[in-house]
Amino acid sequence: MRDVPNSLRTDAAGGEGGVAPIIRVVDLHKAFGGPPVLDGVSIDFAPAKTTVIMGPSGCGKSVTLKHIVGLLKPDSGQVFFDGQRVDQLTERQWAPIRLQIGLLFQMGALFDSMTVGDNIEFPLIEHTPLSKAERRERVAEALKVVDMAGAEARMPSQLSGGQRKRVALARAIVVKPRVVLYDEPTTGLDPIRSDGINELIIKLRNTMGVTNIVVTHDLASARKIADRVVMLLGGKVAADGSFQSLERSPDERVQHFLTGTYSRDDDDPVPGAVPARGETT
Ligand SMILES: Nc1ncnc2c1ncn2[C@@H]1O[C@H](COP(=O)(O)OP(=O)(O)OP(=O)(O)O)[C@@H](O)[C@H]1O
Ligand SMILES: [Mg+2]
Repeated sequence: MRDVPNSLRTDAAGGEGGVAPIIRVVDLHKAFGGPPVLDGVSIDFAPAKTTVIMGPSGCGKSVTLKHIVGLLKPDSGQVFFDGQRVDQLTERQWAPIRLQIGLLFQMGALFDSMTVGDNIEFPLIEHTPLSKAERRERVAEALKVVDMAGAEARMPSQLSGGQRKRVALARAIVVKPRVVLYDEPTTGLDPIRSDGINELIIKLRNTMGVTNIVVTHDLASARKIADRVVMLLGGKVAADGSFQSLERSPDERVQHFLTGTYSRDDDDPVPGAVPARGETT
């Protein structure tokens, strides 16, 4: 794994092994007019690690990611990026920070009328002063990372689901972000293609030192890619540790999720309705 830059090292408390978290969410509360979706969520994300966020549908995983990238503002609580408080910034102030965060969103669609190359080049035109030649080079490089070298001229409609995900990931990393957020990156893919995406997530961490934050329901993916798993339940962090430590968790709600046993309570989940039993592990 790439060495963590000195600028990220600190003797201050709060980081894993003395390394300051690159992103911190602190006591986030968020409701949309009903019961709270986030009811005091705190997570520190260590640099160059892969953190997987899991939990049942509607528990606030996507809402958490949107707070991290400033698309939602908390009712209370704070978000920090590289030590800077960011939850109260204006859209203009967010711009340089967003450049350091790549997004692969749940519904992250490509522009169907644009070639693969133009899709990937788009954020470079929007956000960087690079020349046409430099942009083309960066697009080629990003396509190579996702094992789709030379696909610039293809149209999204000519691609399989797995290839579209790869192109969307190339677009997310073309600005060379320090952090990449993935919302259900393997949903809708067969196990082989899912594994291909998992390999890419691991590769980004290992070769480029990317901090990965991955929301997934897919237990096989979580087991493979996670340095750490955070499970959200009832608006709170219900478990936090290695995948193996979650498997050993005595919390029956965690076991219920991991074993996928159906319960009548699983229908029509109401945010915040799960009673908080036991302590955060
Ligand atoms: N902009 C919004 N306005 C109103 N309610 C919202 C908004 N965004 C999210 N919610 C609600 O917040 C809750 C959590 O949503 P979220 O999208 O974070 O769930 P999730 O954990 O990502 O679920 P899934 O696994 O199905 O994607 C849901 O009840 C959802 O309806
Ligand atoms: Mg979601």
